[in-house]
Amino acid sequence: MNFFHYEVPPTAGLPLHLSDFFPSAHSLEEKLSQFIGTHNVQIECSATSALVVALTSLKNLSPKKKVIISAYTCPWVPIAIIHCGLMPVVCDSNKEHFDFNLKKLESILNDDILAIIPTHLAGKIADVKKILPLAKKYGAFVIEDGAQALGARTKKQSVGLLGDIGIFSLGVGKGLSIFAGGVIVAKNKPLFAHIQKMSALIVPTNYLMETKRLLELIFYYIFYRPSLLRFVFGIPLRHHLKKSDFIKAAGDNCSFKFPIHRVSRYRKYIGSNALNRLNDFLNSNREKALSRLRKLERIKGLKVLKTKEPKETWPFILLMMPNQKIRDQMTAALWSKSLGVGRLFIEEISNYDYLKPYFKKTNVPAGKQFAANTMIISNSPWLTDKHFNEIYRVLNLHLK
Ligand SMILES: Cc1ncc(COP(=O)(O)O)c(C=O)c1O
Repeated sequence: MNFFHYEVPPTAGLPLHLSDFFPSAHSLEEKLSQFIGTHNVQIECSATSALVVALTSLKNLSPKKKVIISAYTCPWVPIAIIHCGLMPVVCDSNKEHFDFNLKKLESILNDDILAIIPTHLAGKIADVKKILPLAKKYGAFVIEDGAQALGARTKKQSVGLLGDIGIFSLGVGKGLSIFAGGVIVAKNKPLFAHIQKMSALIVPTNYLMETKRLLELIFYYIFYRPSLLRFVFGIPLRHHLKKSDFIKAAGDNCSFKFPIHRVSRYRKYIGSNALNRLNDFLNSNREKALSRLRKLERIKGLKVLKTKEPKETWPFILLMMPNQKIRDQMTAALWSKSLGVGRLFIEEISNYDYLKPYFKKTNVPAGKQFAANTMIISNSPWLTDKHFNEIYRVLNLHLK
């Protein structure tokens, strides 16, 4: 057996350096304030936790009960909503896109909508400006889900600052990771002060859980490299694929029992040190993704998800196949091959068995089609041209 088999991670996560583990002169909050462009930055133990704190804060300000989410998003989002005793409502997207269909959004908006959560999926920027007047009309808050988009900017402004609240993830495989972490931003000072107060009230200290996370972060530093990643990622992935358990293979097996606790200053220091390298990392990943997508777009029938913003981030390249049959053939050929090819979220959000009881009957054909036809190619710097050319060859062959 080749113990040093090369495994490409599914996303472009910034690898940690040993020097990141030395104390930093600046807190993660300070550094993120500069990076995102607001003084109002709060760290939580995951983006899911950040959503819980944000939603609890809004719930405290308003008796409204419903939260609108995209048809194609991460299962942690409705889980956070349900955890807060609120009801998720799905809004369909535009065809071959992840962003809200505005007509559909308007048709489901009413006076009981507490918040709307647009998602900056795959580092691509959702059109938040367009939904702000609608949100205002119905008195709904806007929470931008930038879990996959830390560093994405429109003109010079970071995502997360147009709406009332923005959240980001510092989870495994994200651009910046402290193994598990989340960020809340809110440009409005009184609202941010309220969020901080709520966080202090509902987020407990848990030394045991924090110690576990620190050990996991050390393991992440050791194993997040192509020569070792198969032991913690590749082998379990191929095990799930063998059983055709795509939900587990994509990591969509989320649970209603998730930890909520304070993040230690030390773990935040590690993130603060790594953040020094994030801008350069995102810029070089963007360049590489843009040159690869030009090549991919030459394949007939294949579409690459992109929007017009030049400063988006590229954790991976999201591809749309002409139909589900071809997408399934492609993933059958490539997902298990250690090449960083896979699927993002397996289902349209209301179609996960464990979430079905929480949604009313939905009609979201565009979201369903997006889930059925899409696949991803990692944009990790460890995906070499040789690997990429092999993926390109297989795609080209099948789509001819
Ligand atoms: C769009 C989106 N929202 C929320 C989350 C939850 O983030 P976390 O894993 O940090 O809780 C994720 C996780 O990947 C995500 O992709």
